[in-house]
This record gives sequence, C-alpha cells and structure tokens, in this order.
Amino acid sequence: MLGKYNSLIILLLLILLKNNFGHEIKLYGPGLQPKNIVMPARYFFVNFTSIDENSYSRDLALNFAVEINGKSFKSNHCRVWVNTLDRKDGTFIVRYKLYETCTELSIGIYYKNKHIHDSPYRFEGPIQPDQCDCPKKDMKQWLKHYECPASYAQIENDLRPFKNLIMSNQIKKIIKNFHKPESTSFCHYIIKNNEIYRDCYGKHIGFNMFADNILLSLTRKVAMPDMELIINLGDWPLVHKGSEPLPIFSWCGNNETLDIVMPTYDITESALENMGRVTLDTLSVQGNVERKWADRENRAFWRGRDSRAERLKLIDIARAHPDLINASLTNFFFFREKEAQYGPKLPHISFFKFFDYKYQINVDGTVAAYRLPYLLSGGSLVMKQESPYYEHFYGKLQPFEHFIPIRRDLSDLPDKIIWAREHDEEAHQIARNARNFATNNLLPQHIICYHAVLFSEWSKRIKGEVNVEKDMTHVPQVKFECVCDLTSSVDREEL
Ligand SMILES: *[C@@H]1O[C@H](CO)[C@@H](O)[C@H](O)[C@H]1NC(C)=O
Ligand SMILES: *[C@@H]1O[C@H](CO)[C@@H](O)[C@H](O)[C@H]1NC(C)=O
Ligand SMILES: *[C@@H]1O[C@H](CO)[C@@H](O)[C@H](O)[C@H]1NC(C)=O
Repeated sequence: MLGKYNSLIILLLLILLKNNFGHEIKLYGPGLQPKNIVMPARYFFVNFTSIDENSYSRDLALNFAVEINGKSFKSNHCRVWVNTLDRKDGTFIVRYKLYETCTELSIGIYYKNKHIHDSPYRFEGPIQPDQCDCPKKDMKQWLKHYECPASYAQIENDLRPFKNLIMSNQIKKIIKNFHKPESTSFCHYIIKNNEIYRDCYGKHIGFNMFADNILLSLTRKVAMPDMELIINLGDWPLVHKGSEPLPIFSWCGNNETLDIVMPTYDITESALENMGRVTLDTLSVQGNVERKWADRENRAFWRGRDSRAERLKLIDIARAHPDLINASLTNFFFFREKEAQYGPKLPHISFFKFFDYKYQINVDGTVAAYRLPYLLSGGSLVMKQESPYYEHFYGKLQPFEHFIPIRRDLSDLPDKIIWAREHDEEAHQIARNARNFATNNLLPQHIICYHAVLFSEWSKRIKGEVNVEKDMTHVPQVKFECVCDLTSSVDREEL
C-alpha cells in the first residue's frame, strides 16, 4: 500500500532538501566551469538571495561549507587550495586554486551539512591549473567558452583609427618619434606561432614583466593569432590627438591622446596573482571589509602619496573639515620640500580598513589612480575627481549611478560629503551599484577577456606576415609538468 506513495514521499523530500531550509540560493560564476575557464584562481558565487546586509548573521557563515577535491595522475588526491570570502550580505565568494592537473574534480557546497542544489558538481579531466601550457586551437571558440563579450565599446573606439597596418613601418615611426631613453620606455612584442618575443627601448623596462605575464597567460590558454604590437611601459599615454595616429598600447588613457588602452598592470597582476603574490584584488576586497554600511563612519577617508598637487590640496581641505574627512599622505617624493607643511606622513594602513568609512576619495596620482577598481568593490561611496585620465573600464561608469563626481580642483568635496550624509539611502545605493559594477566588470575573468578580445581584434588590423627579427628576446613559458590531453598517448609517455 505504502509503495504507491513512495515516489511521492521521495519527491517531497527532494523538494525540502532543495529548498535548503527556506533559502533560495543562486550559484554562478566561472569557477563552476573549470574545464573551459582556466584561471589562476577560479571563483564562483553562492548567493542566499533572501539575506542582505541587515538580516545577515554569523550563523549563515557557520552553516555554510565548501569542499573541493579530486584525483590526479599520481594519486587519489589533487592538490587544491580553497578560500571562502564572506561578503556578509548573504553572498559568499568561493575561490580555489589548482596546483596540478586534476583528472577528476568534485565541488561540494553545503548548507547545514546538506548539499545545495545539484552539489556535488563533478567534472572529468583534464582540469588544468593556470600554469599549464595547453592552448586551445580555436580562439573564436575559446572566447565563447570563456564567456568573453564579443566586443567592447572602448576597444572599438581605440582601434577605430587603425586598419591594414604594415607594422614594420609603424614600428619604425614609433621608435623614431617616441624613443627617448630618459623619459619613455616601451617594448615591441611579437607573437608568432603562439611564442612571445620582445625588444625593449628605454631605460626603465622592468615593467615589461607585467606585459610578459598577461601574454604568457593568454598563450597558455589559447593559440593567439600572429601579431606584433608596441606596449608602453610608462604611466603617461604618448600619442597626442592631432599627431599621426600611431598604435601604442598603454595602461592609462587621456582624453587628449589616442593610445590603445589595456587594463592597468595593477589590476592585471591582481587577476593573475589572485590567491598568490597579490592580496589586494577585486574579490578579496569584497570579503575582507569588516563593517556593514550602517556601521561605517560617515566621513571620507583617503591615504596616498604626494604624486599630484591636488593631493596636497586634499590635505588642506581635510584640515579645514576634520568632521568630514580623514586624509593623510603616506609618502613624500614629488613635493619633498612641502613635507613640513603637509606632513607628518602616516604609515600605510590596510586597504581593507579604508572601508571603515562610508566615503572614499579617488584623486589622480601621476595619471589615473589605479586603486579605483578596489575602491568600487569595497561597498563604500566613491567620490571621484573629474579627470582627463581613464582606465579601460571608465567609459562604462556613470556619475551618480556608480560614483559621485568631484570637481578637478576638489572645491566641492565638502558639499558632496554633506549631500551624501543627508541622502544616506541614495549614497548607499550608489555604493551597492559600484560593487555590482565591479562584480560584473572587474573580476579576473573580465580582465583576461578584455586582453583576449583586444589582442584578437588588434590582430585583424594588421596585415602581412609577422617575422621575428633575429635579435629579439624570446620570452619562454615557465616549465611546469602538465598533461594537456588525457587521451593522447604521447603526453602519457612523457609522464
Ligand atoms: C544576489 O542575488 C540578489 C537577488 O537576485 C541580487 O540582487 C544580488 O545582486 C546578488 N548578489 C551578487 C553578489 O551577485
Ligand atoms: C584617521 O584614521 C586613522 C586610521 O583609521 C585613525 O587611526 C585616526 O584616529 C583617524 N583620525 C581622526 C581624526 O579621526
Ligand atoms: C579633457 O578633459 C579636460 C579636463 O576634464 C577637459 O577640460 C577637456 O575639455 C577634455 N577634452 C576633450 C577633448 O574632451
């Protein structure tokens, strides 16, 4: 008799289990596609959608757990490091780093010791760590699998002046016009048969390691088209409007220049060294701030070095309005003679502590302040100085939606802070929008995609065969033992 109801009972049980104690839970993110999306640190989101900053309690974190393990060729255990970040608003960010090729991988996600949704998620290998030099052959397909957008307005805009370029001529002109060893440094890069070569000009070429890193990272993942390009290693963009548009890739743009903008070396390193050498990144900021909005001080906070006159001015304004602003310089270099007036310099404090304050100030340094991605991620309201300088993503940022604009001379800063105090709900919403913007545009996947789409589009703008000149430096991949293809007997024999 009971048998008739068995399936119904099982179904009900399943619904209850899936219901996860009344929580609706959303799972998403590139880390749930570990085969297609190879990253230094993979990540995904677990969103308890009914919980927010105010209803969050530590119980949620205590009842949440993740377990990731797998098998490798050599053992029944694949080396994986897992790190969970608690945004304290009902969303967890789970990051994990593979240290070897996994032949199997299982991701278990639990709430109150029960699996969430279809957890455990199981994958059959090979699932590669980022160090593996296992490029996919078809770039178009790879871009799709990696979930990269087909295009970016900024890239289309930057590349508009360029088509059918014969690069040997362009390179000659760039060297002639811009090779000033004391003040500019740039490298000529060639990608040929997915190998990287470079030739650098200038005195300060140490930053070529950042360009090397992203190019090496991409060519490990996908076979890049042959191409050549010039990457500017300095902060300042070089190609002024009105002069001949020569193609130079730079980390910072200016509304009076034509340089092709790439994500800054700073955010690129933080994407490539996530869960590695770099501890400040657009994910870690989301999990390491301690105070929710309501508990943050309703003052503006700023720390930084003296790399622009307005930064000194900010100190003057802060001294006149200590009730509104806590700002100090941490280093004197550009205005050493003013240290007595604008000092004493204060020691650095953890960037995560910035978010003990509701309002954050973004003032240019020598060029755009490369901290903006992290400021946007921290859940405070960003007050951004108007500026001709921009990074690759500024075109998508909207004033009063993602940040509050401040006049270039900072004169309206106190008024804007007073406005924010008097419009706390609007200010909070802009802060939330900013963090959502960062989550949708500034995570490692987005940074890798931007480079991939940029270089892929760029390769279509140049014509003729790419030839490596014989005195160029070959930039090799770091040796790392990998199995690219489980079915290939050649790879297995190499083990
Ligand atoms: C979590 O889900 C809610 C509701 O769908 C959404 O508003 C919020 O932006 C999500 N959080 C994140 C970090 O994606
Ligand atoms: C400014 O901020 C620092 C770091 O949070 C803090 O130690 C100091 O007391 C603050 N100063 C004032 C005047 O609030
Ligand atoms: C560039 O920015 C400056 C400062 O914000 C502004 O005065 C100038 O008009 C802008 N120029 C262009 C071409 O948009």
